[in-house]
Amino acid sequence: MKIVTIIGARPQIIKASALSRAIKEHFTQSIKEIIVHTGQHYDENMSEVFFKELNIPSPNYNLGVKSASHGVQTAKMIVGIEEILLQEKPNAIVLYGDTNSTLAGAIAAAKIHVPIVHIEAGLRSFDKNMPEEINRIMCDNVSTLLFSPTLAGYNNLIREGFSQNISSQPDFNHPNIYHCGDIMLDNTLFFKQIAQQNESFQHKYGKDFILCTIHRNANTDNKNKLSSIFRSLLRINHKIILPLHPRTKKMMPIMLDKYLFSEVMQSENIEIIEPVSYLAMTYLENNCSLVITDSGGVQKEAYYMSKPCIILRPETEWVEIVQTGNAIIADTDEDKIVASANKFLNSKSLNPFIALFGNGRAAEFMCQTMLNCLG
Ligand code: UD1
Ligand code: UDP
Repeated sequence: MKIVTIIGARPQIIKASALSRAIKEHFTQSIKEIIVHTGQHYDENMSEVFFKELNIPSPNYNLGVKSASHGVQTAKMIVGIEEILLQEKPNAIVLYGDTNSTLAGAIAAAKIHVPIVHIEAGLRSFDKNMPEEINRIMCDNVSTLLFSPTLAGYNNLIREGFSQNISSQPDFNHPNIYHCGDIMLDNTLFFKQIAQQNESFQHKYGKDFILCTIHRNANTDNKNKLSSIFRSLLRINHKIILPLHPRTKKMMPIMLDKYLFSEVMQSENIEIIEPVSYLAMTYLENNCSLVITDSGGVQKEAYYMSKPCIILRPETEWVEIVQTGNAIIADTDEDKIVASANKFLNSKSLNPFIALFGNGRAAEFMCQTMLNCLG
């Protein structure tokens, strides 16, 4: 079978590497993958670095769409993806997560009846103010194979009316839904030791720091929220490493008042660095004492590394992690962030980290299911 994989944003490039690896290892004879990069992320350290490091085949097409308003960005992608689908005539399009690249792939494919495989289906924040919530609901509703990493995601789909019955010939009027584990866990398990053995990371980053990432538009584009996050980081008496997303780098001088901005930039505790490669990030996650983040992927990876996590959002799609007690939703409440950080840094024992996200072989299951149903 022939599949067209759409990637665009950093986490999609990383997730797609697990499927490409599974195809290379087990399905070279049966699955041909065409990779389309929308160009949503384009800085070297937001895109190219992952291709090199994760050994992902170069994209067959790059639409070079770059940054724009939601409408302009998505529309340009739809035009480019439709053209490629008409030319390549694949058995299916594979879409990851909930970005504008996901939505564009879903609209382009659904209208010309190319079956959609949605990886990371069913996740919901129940907040349509998030652009991602709109993208994921719309994509799920035109998909033929929906792979949910969690039971909560699978149950959301059932609640929304998707049938649990598995058909041998699904289509987008009769889709199949699966609870099959997280493709990001496949990557963490594959790359953890490789990252850990890297001497340059050991030398550069050491151990016992807090790892922080911030990029969610609800935080970066809101003066009060972004200021509250940074005031809390200044109050935590511990080294913090913060690989800075380009969106946050652009918004910090605009959203923070000049005193707070200069305090952050001059702080001895807060080390702001450029976005790092996936292996470096894996090392940082595995060697930190605590993660503070608004990233969806980083919340999960913290859990995979048995690290506590403070979530800088009012809710999370990864509800199971919070239920274990090893992650706390603090949103941008300054006092709650500081108190939670102190609690986790001082606590001697965390609750058990139970296996919630599969066995690290989700990509293989997805490939086999695609072949069975759409091949
Ligand atoms: C996007 C996704 C978000 C995902 C995140 C992963 C949407 C709506 N949002 O958010 O779900 O969590 O990617 O990182 O699809 N920029 C650069 N260089 C780049 C890319 C972006 O400078 O290579 C800057 C630009 O100023 C751009 C801003 O970041 O305007 C935001 O980029 P965009 O792709 O629109 O959204 P993200 O915030 O990255
Ligand atoms: N990541 C990375 N370098 C960084 C920050 C994050 O490689 O500097 C990885 C991280 O390990 C995870 C993914 O990017 O695999 C998460 O992407 P991001 O936080 O941008 O988006 P989200 O998951 O919130 O959609």
